[in-house]
Amino acid sequence: MDSHSADMVEFGPRTHVLVTGGAGFLGSALVDLLLARHCSVTVIDDLSNGLLSNLPVGDPRLTVRAFRVGDPAFNAAVRDEVGQADAVFHLASPIGVQRAHKERFAVTSGILESGCSIVEACRLHRRPLLYTSSSEVYGSGRDRPITESDPVMTDIRPRWGYAAAKAAVEHLVAGLLFDFGIPAWIVRPFNMAGPRQRSATGLVLPVFVNAALRGEALV
Ligand SMILES: NC(=O)c1ccc[n+]([C@@H]2O[C@H](COP(=O)([O-])OP(=O)(O)OC[C@H]3O[C@@H](n4cnc5c(N)ncnc54)[C@H](O)[C@@H]3O)[C@@H](O)[C@H]2O)c1
Repeated sequence: MDSHSADMVEFGPRTHVLVTGGAGFLGSALVDLLLARHCSVTVIDDLSNGLLSNLPVGDPRLTVRAFRVGDPAFNAAVRDEVGQADAVFHLASPIGVQRAHKERFAVTSGILESGCSIVEACRLHRRPLLYTSSSEVYGSGRDRPITESDPVMTDIRPRWGYAAAKAAVEHLVAGLLFDFGIPAWIVRPFNMAGPRQRSATGLVLPVFVNAALRGEALV
């Protein structure tokens, strides 16, 4: 979305940032970056896949709240935290193609519920939001290189529940910008790899690396 500039939020000592999923692989790297820019940061993470040890717990600029975004019992807490933030990064999400196959309901509802909760809070408080969607919305990309203008995947097979839910929340985020004039960004990461990434959810690169380290076939 290009009708506004990322310069609208200045990340410095007077900036308070909310990061959902901040105890995870990408979220904790983002928290490190924000703290290096002297921001104060609140993380909301249910620790379903994240670890407190990924975060500099004890840093006075960091607050960690352990609950599930999307749980109705915590919607008021989400609204409060969003209201106190200058900018919101929503990374909390169930992840992994294996999990999408085994737990279609939990994965799809987890993305939709957390997305609805965060977007609604940003709408109420008019807070800028960056949403991490996924390259999965492009589908398999099997026949040709993927382009930005490709249609998103809407197939009913289990794999695409994750993608369809991510795409649905993209529409809510786009609505923030185009219907309400609230700054909003969508990013669609491809397979990322690096420190703190866990193989438990079946992500391809950590699974291959761990298998290689054990001398096993890369399946
Ligand atoms: N890593 C990648 O290659 C990749 C690719 C595409 C998209 N993404 C997206 O980027 C984001 C971050 O991914 P990651 O690789 O760091 O995953 P991750 O599992 O390491 O981080 C996600 C974090 O969110 C937390 N979480 C999950 N559901 C939650 C909820 N409802 N409420 C609160 N916390 C919750 C988990 O405990 C975890 O700490 C996700 O939205 C993911 O879909 C990642």
